[in-house]
Amino acid sequence: MIRRIDHIAIVVEDIEEALAFWQESLGLEVSHVEEVPDQESIVAFLPAGESEIELVEPTTGTSGVARYLAKRGPGMHHLCLEVEAIEPVLARLKDRGVRLINEEPIIGTGGKKIAFIHPKSAFGVLVELYELTPEEPQRRLEAMRRLRRRLAINSQAAREGIFTFLRTLRSRTSRRVG
Ligand code: CO
Repeated sequence: MIRRIDHIAIVVEDIEEALAFWQESLGLEVSHVEEVPDQESIVAFLPAGESEIELVEPTTGTSGVARYLAKRGPGMHHLCLEVEAIEPVLARLKDRGVRLINEEPIIGTGGKKIAFIHPKSAFGVLVELYELTPEEPQRRLEAMRRLRRRLAINSQAAREGIFTFLRTLRSRTSRRVG
């Protein structure tokens, strides 16, 4: 039923600062950075084998992640498990009295199905479930290939590119956090 850990999300005040550790010190590479207006945040993905580290920086003070950051400081925000089929998993959890944040899956980017389990039922951990579309493995592979090509050209330029992108995003967003 559960395939693997898709990602572990870490909420940070400043992605650029966080990359000094996750990218420079630890040696992980950023596959992409994007603004997620729905979640009022900027996210950066750093693949690690079969899974990814996702850095989340809130762009407003009102979102769930922003409140989480204000209350608890930077740290692990949620764990995401890839499941084969999300509906049967949700049905089973409901049967067992597990508290769900999403009783029905919500549709994310690329058409993937997403639902969150309440931390009260998961021993203090917010758990996200993903059912990926058949195209997702190919999409990931292409993202990694693009990254490798870019890194092969000039790894420093790629890094500078990410920072420039982050600064551009920030200058467009009214930041009330940090
Ligand atoms: Co997530």
